[in-house]
Amino acid sequence: MRVLGINALFHDPSACLVVDGTLVAAAEEERFSRRKHGKRPVPFSAWELPEQAARWCLAQAGLRASDVDVVGYAYDPALAEPAESLGLHDPWDHLRQMYAREAPGFLAEALPGLDPAKVQFVRHHVAHAASAAYAAPNSATGSVLVLDGRGEATSHLAGRRVGAELQTLASQRLPHSLGLFYEDLTAHLGFLRSSDEYKVMALASYGSPRMAAELRRRVYSTEDGGFRTTGVDWTEFCPPRGADEAWSPAHADVAASAQLVLEDVLLDLARWLHGQTGDELLTMAGGTALNCVANSRIVREGPFSRVWVQPAAGDAGTALGAAVYLSAMHGDDPAPMGGADLGRGWSEAELEAWLKTAAVPYERPDDVADAVASALAQNQIVAWFQGRAEFGPRALGHRSLLAHPGHSGNLERLNDVKGREQFRPVAPMVLADRAPEIFTGGPFPSPYMLFVHDTKPEWRNRIPAVVHVDGTARLQTVDAAAEPLVAAMLRGFERRTGLPVVVNTSLNTAGRPMVDDPRDALECFGSAPVDLLALGPFVVRRGSVFGRGDGR
Ligand SMILES: [Fe+2]
Repeated sequence: MRVLGINALFHDPSACLVVDGTLVAAAEEERFSRRKHGKRPVPFSAWELPEQAARWCLAQAGLRASDVDVVGYAYDPALAEPAESLGLHDPWDHLRQMYAREAPGFLAEALPGLDPAKVQFVRHHVAHAASAAYAAPNSATGSVLVLDGRGEATSHLAGRRVGAELQTLASQRLPHSLGLFYEDLTAHLGFLRSSDEYKVMALASYGSPRMAAELRRRVYSTEDGGFRTTGVDWTEFCPPRGADEAWSPAHADVAASAQLVLEDVLLDLARWLHGQTGDELLTMAGGTALNCVANSRIVREGPFSRVWVQPAAGDAGTALGAAVYLSAMHGDDPAPMGGADLGRGWSEAELEAWLKTAAVPYERPDDVADAVASALAQNQIVAWFQGRAEFGPRALGHRSLLAHPGHSGNLERLNDVKGREQFRPVAPMVLADRAPEIFTGGPFPSPYMLFVHDTKPEWRNRIPAVVHVDGTARLQTVDAAAEPLVAAMLRGFERRTGLPVVVNTSLNTAGRPMVDDPRDALECFGSAPVDLLALGPFVVRRGSVFGRGDGR
C-alpha cells in the first residue's frame, strides 16, 4: 500500500510517503520554497499545498502520482464547525473549511495523474496521535497525548494504541486550547504566533513564576481528562512588547508563570491518561510537545516509565501521521521511525558537481569527521551538511552548525550568524554512552532534542556555550551505530579537547528555513561567518575562498 500524507491547512505544509508501512520520505515545503514555515498561518493561505514536497516524496520512491493507492489529508472538514459556535474569533475561518473540502481537487491539479477519489480526510488530532503512537519504537501498546492550538473542533486528544487500533479516550473542545493559550502569549510578548513559542519557553528561564497562582484561576485541568483555558487577558499581567523592543523582567515573569501553569496542566493530563490505561509508554505529538521543558517534567514527575516524542511534533508531522494511520487502517504493519533523516540527500558525485558549479576551491580530506573535529578544536565554526535532511524543526547532525562548547562567547557568535536573540540557548550534542556523565534530570537516550536536562555542576564551566542561564541544556544524544559519522566527529573533538560535547544548532541564517540542498549550504557559507563547510566528504575553507581564514 502506497500512502501519501499531506499537511496543508494551518501551517508548516508538508508531505510524507509510506510504502507497505515503512516511512520512505517526509519533508516540509519550506525546505523547497525557502519560505520559513511554508506560509503564514492565515485562512487565506489554507488552499496552498506542499506541492514540491509531495512531488519529491513520490520521486524519491520512483512513483508517479497515479501509483499512489491512497492520500491522507490531515484535517477532516466534516468535523469542523463555524468558528463562532466554537467560541473562536476567526471571521475568515469558513475559508479554511471550504479549501479543505476542495483539497482533493486541488491535489489532483498539483499532482497530475492523482485520482481525487483517493483522497481521504483524517481527523487532525488522529493524524498527530498516529504520528507518535505508530512511529515510536516498541509501541504496539501505549498511551498517546496530543496537544496543539486547534484541529477541527478540539485542541487535544488523549488516546491509546493497541495493535493496529487507535482509541480516543478524551478530547477537549475549543475554545479551550493550551496551544492557543501559549500562542496568544507569544504574540503578546512581541514574537511571531505559531512560530516563536520556543522563544517564550527560553525567556521563561529568566523570570520568576510569581503570577502562576493568578493564572491558575483561569487555566486548569478538569476531572474528565480535559482543561479550561479561557478568560486570560495578558494585558492584566504585563504590557505588550513590540517586536523590536527590549524585554523587561515583567515579560520574563509572565513567560515563567505561563510555562509553569502549562507544565502543571500537562502533568494532570498525563496522570489522568495513565489512570485510564496503566500503560508504561506515553507517546506525544502536537505543537505543545515541542515544549522540551514541559516534556522533561512529564518524564520526571509523570506516571509513565517511558516517554517518546515524535520529532516533527508540530503540524508538519500530521502528514506523517495521516499516511501511517491510513497505512495501518488498510492492513499494513507500521514500522517504527528509525530516525528523522527522511528528507533530501545527494550522492558524492552530485555534491562535487555543485562545488564545481560554484567554482569554489575544495578538498577531500581522508577523514572528513576528523578534519571537522580539528577545525572545531581550533574554535572554528563549521557548517555540517551530511546525509538526508531532517524532518521536523531540529537539526540533528545532518544540517547543523557546529562549534566548540568550551568558549562562552560562541553562543553570541552563533546567535550572530543566525541573527537570533541573545537570550536563546544553543544545544549540545554528545555521544549517547557519555551523556549520563555530564547531564542529569532527563531521559536517555534523547536523540531528537525534545527534552531538557540539567548540566552537572562540575561540567557547567567546561561547556559554558551550551548551558542555559538556569543550568539546563537541550541535548541531543548520538547513537554511534545510527550516526557513525557524527560519532566519529565527536570522538575526534574529544581526543583534541577532552570534551565529548559539541555545540549543535540548525544550519540556517536569520529568518530562513534550514539549509536543505547543496546550493542553500553554499549560500549560507558565503553569506555568514562560517569557517568551514563540510559538504559530504568535501570541505570548503573560508580562508581558501575569501583570503583571511577567520572571517573577522
Ligand atoms: Fe496541530
